[in-house]
Amino acid sequence: MRLDKYLCESTDLTRSQARSALLAGEITVNGEVIKKGTHVVRDGDVVQWDDETLAPIGLRYIMLNKPVGYECTLRNSQYPPVISLLDVDKRDRLHTVGRLDVETTGLILITDDGQWTHRIISPRHRCDKVYVATLAEPLPDNAEDLFAAGILLDGEDKPTLPAVLERVDERRARLTIQEGKYHQVRRMFASLGNHVLALHRERIGSLALDADLLAGESRYLTPIEVADLAQNGDVPV
Ligand code: URA
Repeated sequence: MRLDKYLCESTDLTRSQARSALLAGEITVNGEVIKKGTHVVRDGDVVQWDDETLAPIGLRYIMLNKPVGYECTLRNSQYPPVISLLDVDKRDRLHTVGRLDVETTGLILITDDGQWTHRIISPRHRCDKVYVATLAEPLPDNAEDLFAAGILLDGEDKPTLPAVLERVDERRARLTIQEGKYHQVRRMFASLGNHVLALHRERIGSLALDADLLAGESRYLTPIEVADLAQNGDVPV
């Protein structure tokens, strides 16, 4: 990684402040003053700013149990962003992997790795997203078949990809979908004349929401969890 980028990643310096620190001779790599931002920092190099050793922030992969009342975007809204629930540095670099509605609860992934995000949300990669919906009305007998055949949602010109519906009880169903159209689950049930009263995401691909996380709590993914989810990208359909 270039030294100027490394400085921005590992400190609160902006690009121009990093450039000034370099020009002022405040930065050393392996004990040698380096003034050029283009200098390449390699694994094992010791970078210091005024004798303080800097460690870069690596890419971060976090799961959060989203409560009701939080937005997945950062736009100005009456609701706070889910990212505000995290106690981490450089929060503004993070984004959510897809979105959940303000009213939806459960598993949301948060990262600063755009490529990883793409592998999970691109419909080409057919990554399962599993929701439990609580419904206002009982389901019709043929609901499984209708969802498996794909549903033409209001305002769309192509039906949804086949989805798997499993009844939990009379008014609760577990639904597995592989895409993420706007309000998709709510609109799929609306197409049957039903209404979703509560929606909770319990799994994305191989990763289930950690049962130890209370609403609003988060934890970092393990390297194995990160790699397993990325494998969705190895077999695009
Ligand atoms: N589908 C919805 O309708 N809402 C969500 O939050 C996620 C999927």
